[in-house]
Amino acid sequence: MVLDASVTLEESFSPPADSVLWRPEFLLGAATAAYQIEGAIAEDGRIPSIWDTFSATPGKTLAGDTGDIACDHYHRWQSDVELLADLNVGAYRLSISWPRVMTRDGQPNQKGIAFYRNLLTALRAKGLKTWVTLYHWDLPQHLEDKGGWVDRDTAYRFAEYADMISRELAGLVDAWATLNEPWCSAMHGYGTGHHAPGKTDVVFATQAMHHLLLGHGLAVAQLRANDPAAQVGIVANVGRGTTTGSGAADQRAAWLFELQHNNWILDPLLKKSYPSALWALWPGAEPMVLDGDMDIIGAPLDFLGINYYFRTNVVSDGKNGYTEVDLEGVERTQMGWEVHPDGLRHLLVGFHRDYPNLPPIYITENGMASDDKVVDGEVDDRSRISFLNRHLAAVDQAVKAGVDIRGYFIWSLMDNFEWAFGYERRFGIIHVDYATQQRTLKRSAKLVAQFLAQRAATTA
Ligand code: FCB
Repeated sequence: MVLDASVTLEESFSPPADSVLWRPEFLLGAATAAYQIEGAIAEDGRIPSIWDTFSATPGKTLAGDTGDIACDHYHRWQSDVELLADLNVGAYRLSISWPRVMTRDGQPNQKGIAFYRNLLTALRAKGLKTWVTLYHWDLPQHLEDKGGWVDRDTAYRFAEYADMISRELAGLVDAWATLNEPWCSAMHGYGTGHHAPGKTDVVFATQAMHHLLLGHGLAVAQLRANDPAAQVGIVANVGRGTTTGSGAADQRAAWLFELQHNNWILDPLLKKSYPSALWALWPGAEPMVLDGDMDIIGAPLDFLGINYYFRTNVVSDGKNGYTEVDLEGVERTQMGWEVHPDGLRHLLVGFHRDYPNLPPIYITENGMASDDKVVDGEVDDRSRISFLNRHLAAVDQAVKAGVDIRGYFIWSLMDNFEWAFGYERRFGIIHVDYATQQRTLKRSAKLVAQFLAQRAATTA
């Protein structure tokens, strides 16, 4: 590859010659999630999920958007696999819709399972590694009706689902991730109410988190037993918190922000305990933990998936907590999220320092939303190209600082249903015209494909 320093980060995807990106074993992939792309919510025996209910409730999503049709991937998966193959990526991260594969009474739904079996088989045939998340937020509604993740029983139902689906799909999956972003499931689902099921009590959120993590630990055992050749891990979103305040209370606020976003999940997984300072932040919200739970939750992992998007600036709230204060004049994406690649490097190096048993890391999501338009058949998403270049450089720096990072997945393969923000926010490297379901490779997708072709040619 020609390395031309005069070409800007917006125009080319040309990692420096010594970047980890050039290593053939460094996995580059793209990611999606079931509810965000599949549609077909009532086909072949799929039962309702909490996101069907939530998005159908007026006022919960932007413009009232729902995942009813989404990218119609359930019907278009074969051509979507062709697109993935055209991108030359080494892996595809997808999620399984629990309500599509399991009936109300806990039996396998063979029609729904066949969809994933066919998809995974086709991906494997194209030489892609298959990264499968079991839970990307679409809890069957009937389990929410019994209390959802606030109810301990849901952890056992999740383990049953993991057991069933890993028996059915054993041998077709390279890496299983139990949960996607338990922080968002617990906090946005049961604390802030921004996500399904829309509950708003921090006591629910901390209890939900415990049951999510318990479900994770129980599922790890099932996955290992049923599919011993596959890797098993979990995906956590992490946040960088800094402060513009100068006092000790503001410094503590930034520390608390990261404790609440990162250590709340990583400590139980990697140290078998919750950080006790959390309960001063949320008095009275300490979850009910039974004997043996923390050993189940702390089961060894083959990998840790890290999702990173932005940095948050906070100051002390004058009490035990923090308040977010937006920084002026910083670069932001269509989501309003600050572009801050160094936050990713900083967090990775910090986790490597703070967790002696940190498993190998994969960046399972990173990317940005922009208001992309098709003009004369092209989508010129320069800001995304620059974003990817800078975040991949941050990953490379972390690798050079000694962190064991083995791959990176772009969020997302294609524009999709961005939860409460509906279809307005476009995260894809492939543009989707929702009226026609036409897919158009954005410039970022073409450059990534070109780079991967060059990498394959130089290392062949
Ligand atoms: C993450 C989610 C993913 C997507 C991105 C933008 O929190 O895991 O589904 O919505 O944010």
